[in-house]
Amino acid sequence: MTSSRSVLFFTITLTLAVAVSLSLAGCETLKTSKPILPLKEYERMIAGRLDANYVGTATCLAACHYHDKIKRDFDASTMGSQLSKKSGLPNVDCESCHGPGSLAVQDLTPEKVEEDAKAGKLTACDYKTLIDIRNLPAQAQSLICLKCHTGNATFNLHNWNASSHAVSDVSCSDCHKVHVGPDLKVKPRDIGRMCERCHQDVQASFALPSHHPLPENRVFCNDCHDAHGALGNHMLKRGTVKETCIFCHAEKSGPFVFEHAETMEDCGTCHSPHGSVNTRLLNVQVPFLCLQCHAGHRTSAKASAEAKGAFYTRCTDCHSQIHGSDLPSAAGRRRFTQ
Ligand code: HEC
Ligand code: HEC
Ligand code: HEC
Ligand code: HEC
Ligand code: HEC
Ligand code: HEC
Ligand code: HEC
Ligand code: HEC
Ligand code: HEC
Repeated sequence: MTSSRSVLFFTITLTLAVAVSLSLAGCETLKTSKPILPLKEYERMIAGRLDANYVGTATCLAACHYHDKIKRDFDASTMGSQLSKKSGLPNVDCESCHGPGSLAVQDLTPEKVEEDAKAGKLTACDYKTLIDIRNLPAQAQSLICLKCHTGNATFNLHNWNASSHAVSDVSCSDCHKVHVGPDLKVKPRDIGRMCERCHQDVQASFALPSHHPLPENRVFCNDCHDAHGALGNHMLKRGTVKETCIFCHAEKSGPFVFEHAETMEDCGTCHSPHGSVNTRLLNVQVPFLCLQCHAGHRTSAKASAEAKGAFYTRCTDCHSQIHGSDLPSAAGRRRFTQ
């Protein structure tokens, strides 16, 4: 009896454990940072084999049409097409990123390809002699892109090196897939999904009852953040939380004749940026929000003194201009009532 019960208990525990690990297996977790090496170490990793030579995209692809789609997509992209051979500027081609390719294709004679085709198999180049991009540390992967996309050439990368992403082992390729198709431009609609892979807690906030209309495609992560880094905290495009908010909610910026003291210096005192269980993105529901700093009051001073009469709870019904007002209250004071 006892043993069958413990078997049952064991089975349930095991089922739960499997269910939990399966549900976790689907998510990508935030990466943990590894020690950052001196730059020259990363440079070494992206140099490729020193005994190989650059042979050019044409040679790379001559013997084998397996990569034709990649080539077509790439030529049609801004990256592939911008710098034409005629411009005399360095061309972006396969070897710009994958490293010198002579060793990879040296055994790829048209005869061998034909022989393989007759035997019904595809000829693979010796890609192990190329740079193993996928298994490089994130910093080295990014360095491949930064060879050309310096802060001067691609202005929004100015703050990349100091960004939370760069220092947390997130690489360009985590967000930009070079071979996904001819269009490398990130569409606003794709950005949320791009970020949610790693920022699942943030994604969850946008599912709360009150949220910025991101799932509705009216606001996007990059309206407020720059994924490539920014001068402000939390990679906010505009220095502070308040500047971030008043970019769209200008009417809350003030200055007002009657200010709500220094609370308005940081909209985050009362609001969450992404989503909240409370109405109007509030951190805490009214009246508790107000009661964190104020005593609240009853119908009149007399009622207060005697602790009689209704205790007002819907503060903003009367104090409706809570962000500040240019008009005094009926009694001529600063009460945010109109
Ligand atoms: C701007 C840099 C860059 C250029 C230029 C480039 N690649 Fe890539 N390639 C990458 C990266 C990064 C990966 C790793 C896969 C990934 O994360 O997208 C990759 C992966 C690949 C793969 C493996 C794809 C897979 O799904 O396993 C092939 C094949 C490939 N590249 C071929 C080419 C060919 C052919 C060219 C030239 C037409 C080329 N690449 C040009 C950056 C580049
Ligand atoms: C050999 C130089 C070179 C390398 C290496 C390189 N790029 Fe580019 N890339 C360019 C040029 C040139 C353009 C087109 C001009 C521009 O938009 O700045 C471009 C454009 C882009 C664009 C914008 C496309 C558009 O439509 O606006 C993205 C995204 C991009 N590159 C990502 C990457 C990533 C990710 C890597 C690393 C895997 C990388 N690049 C490596 C030269 C390079
Ligand atoms: C965390 C995700 C993320 C990382 C990491 C990232 N990017 Fe971007 N990148 C974006 C998003 C989103 C956009 C489009 C919105 C914008 O410009 O901010 C973009 C835009 C770009 C553009 C302009 C083309 C366009 O689509 O508007 C270039 C070029 C570019 N990134 C290159 C890079 C390079 C090079 C790196 C690595 C040093 C990198 N990115 C790292 C998310 C990322
Ligand atoms: C491959 C995983 C990955 C992707 C994709 C990713 N991030 Fe991140 N992000 C991280 C990691 C790791 C950190 C640093 C750890 C942290 O601060 O939580 C970070 C930090 C941040 C921070 C700064 C947090 C702080 O307090 O300084 C912001 C903002 C951010 N990411 C926004 C974005 C946006 C916007 C996108 C989509 C364009 C995005 N991330 C895509 C992994 C990712
Ligand atoms: C309306 C502007 C806005 C939008 C849209 C927005 N954020 Fe934020 N985000 C902020 C502000 C403001 C903060 C700083 C909050 C603070 O100081 O506590 C922040 C903080 C963060 C942080 C760090 C703190 C945390 O909550 O983990 C991450 C990561 C982040 N945002 C990711 C994202 C991602 C991913 C998206 C899109 C899915 C996004 N944000 C959309 C304004 C925004
Ligand atoms: C890119 C523009 C943009 C930025 C930046 C922005 N908002 Fe909004 N905000 C909106 C939009 C759009 C709505 C939805 C308005 C509607 O539905 O009529 C909204 C709605 C709101 C609401 C009402 C939510 C509700 O449930 O009714 C609050 C509160 C709010 N924002 C506060 C903030 C705060 C605080 C910040 C800074 C962290 C901020 N906003 C930054 C665009 C923005
Ligand atoms: C002292 C707390 C407090 C601070 C600080 C605060 N808010 Fe609010 N905010 C509220 C309350 C309470 C409401 C709900 C009012 C209501 O329900 O009538 C609100 C509502 C809003 C709304 C939606 C309704 C409307 O009036 O448009 C927006 C947008 C908003 N706030 C933006 C901001 C911005 C931007 C900042 C920073 C500049 C900010 N808030 C700072 C308490 C605050
Ligand atoms: C973070 C603290 C904080 C929160 C939260 C807060 N306030 Fe205030 N409030 C202040 C401060 C500080 C003053 C200025 C007091 C002074 O100058 O004597 C003030 C002033 C006021 C005044 C004017 C009082 C006077 O003497 O003229 C009213 C009315 C008021 N708040 C109502 C509210 C309401 C309603 C809420 C909730 C929606 C709220 N406050 C939330 C800190 C806060
Ligand atoms: C029925 C309308 C109404 C409601 C609801 C209301 N108030 Fe008031 N409140 C007033 C009026 C009227 C005054 C006095 C105005 C004047 O003197 O000009 C006042 C004054 C204040 C003052 C300044 C009084 C002082 O002691 O200096 C604060 C602070 C305040 N209210 C906070 C709150 C808070 C917090 C709540 C919610 C718990 C709240 N009020 C709910 C109408 C209201």
